[in-house]
Amino acid sequence: MKWTLLLLTLFLNDVFSYKILVAFPYPGKSHSILGEGFVRHLLNGGHEVTYITPVPIKKPHPNLRQVDVSSNFENFVFTSTLDFKKVMNKEVDLKDMFTMYHLMLKVAEKGVNHKNVQKLIMDPSEQFDLVIAEWLYQHLYSGFATVFNCPYAWSSSMEPHPMVLDLIDEIGNPAYFADHMSPLTPPLSFSERVSELLNVIYLYRIRWSVSDAEAKAYEKGFGPAVAKRGLRLPAFDEVKFNGSIMFGNSHVSLGEAHRVPMNYVPIAGYHINEETQPLPENLQKIMDNAPHGVIYFSMGTMMPSKTMPMEFKRAFLDMFSTLKYTVIWKLEEEFKDLPKNVHVVQWAPQPSILAHPNCKLFISHGGLLSTTETVHYGVPIIGVPLFADQFMNVLRAIRKGFALQVDLGFDTPAKLKVAIGEILGDPKYANKVKELSYIYHNRLNKPGDLINWWVEHVIETRGAVHLRSPALHVPFYQKLYLDLIALILLGLVVVIRMLKKLISGRNETKQKKN
Ligand SMILES: *[C@@H]1O[C@H](CO)[C@@H](O)[C@H](O)[C@H]1NC(C)=O
Repeated sequence: MKWTLLLLTLFLNDVFSYKILVAFPYPGKSHSILGEGFVRHLLNGGHEVTYITPVPIKKPHPNLRQVDVSSNFENFVFTSTLDFKKVMNKEVDLKDMFTMYHLMLKVAEKGVNHKNVQKLIMDPSEQFDLVIAEWLYQHLYSGFATVFNCPYAWSSSMEPHPMVLDLIDEIGNPAYFADHMSPLTPPLSFSERVSELLNVIYLYRIRWSVSDAEAKAYEKGFGPAVAKRGLRLPAFDEVKFNGSIMFGNSHVSLGEAHRVPMNYVPIAGYHINEETQPLPENLQKIMDNAPHGVIYFSMGTMMPSKTMPMEFKRAFLDMFSTLKYTVIWKLEEEFKDLPKNVHVVQWAPQPSILAHPNCKLFISHGGLLSTTETVHYGVPIIGVPLFADQFMNVLRAIRKGFALQVDLGFDTPAKLKVAIGEILGDPKYANKVKELSYIYHNRLNKPGDLINWWVEHVIETRGAVHLRSPALHVPFYQKLYLDLIALILLGLVVVIRMLKKLISGRNETKQKKN
């Protein structure tokens, strides 16, 4: 009996291998780390994965096929704005959401129209059971599900926020649910509540302003492939609100205790390998032999540190040379005349460095992947946010009690020195991050198991329609009972009029009698 059961499960495991398309064409290193996270877990789950990526995995698994869109890195409009000098001189404002939405749509369009992607979708013999589509200020990748006539899951790379929750449920109440780009944290004051409300209205206006262009991009990018399969091309609004589930790169230990719908699956940390890779020999030696511990300094991958002015880099080195700590600085270039306690590396296995018990502090731009990793490994941070959600991530970390912020400017090195003294001089920061790390790890299910369970659930229930939030298609005026209010007002007007008539009528009869 036992044996037949075992054989049956083995057999079933084989049958339940699904074909999944992971659509992450956005040309950004950190985004491909998120895409790769899905790929790794799905392959472990025994599925066949096709991965649209600008950063193909070297030595791919036999069940992985990659659609290379690396040429989208060329002439990438965003790159020229990602420059330390420009941000420091306040020439670019990377927090501007209007530009962000319009820019991201253009980038996504390039991804969909890439010749390798078109080759894939124009081939009617290609079939998939599920698409994982990245949301990044645009909804275009949901169109892949239309081509392959299958359900899709959103991947949202940030904390839940109004514009992603609106796709599967409804925006949270702005009175206590601040936007991911907003520097506010609840409880909100009166003016903060008003500003959050205005922000939501502004976001809707932006989304409305791109919606035509987005629908056109969808028709152009996916229309021919859908027609070739003899399918009808549904209106884009039907498609973009049709996600079965949303995987969110979030967890309550990192963000707020937001209320989310049943089909929102928080999987923060899924990009981190369960087993920490060993450090390269030189780094291992440096970290083992740091008498006062190691400060790890990395500003991420989006903004090349090559664009940092030379005298600025020198100022950092001079400041570091006055510290007793060992510093590992990730910088994409060679550096001569380094102080004894500073080591510059072009490439750094960040998780393995943070995992080392001697790692005392992480100086970071505050990207969500980095702030997630600090909680994963329990290391406090000093954030130097540059753009987008980084300000919010750092602020959140400060509020949670394991971080300090230093703004980017020409006086950053001096301010950083003060902050280092504070954060390493008081154990409360390290204690707090260890506490959060416990909450972060203490989950019922590991992120990778969640991904596989949910993917299979959606496929096996043909789109998990039973999980769709009933709020999704309730118009705004009905949610706020504006129709009822209008009816009551109308009733009141009628009653008042009738009363008026009655009174004036009585007065008239009175007058007549007199
Ligand atoms: C919406 O999703 C469901 C479930 O996956 C599917 O049956 C339906 O065809 C989809 N509708 C559109 C317009 O894509």
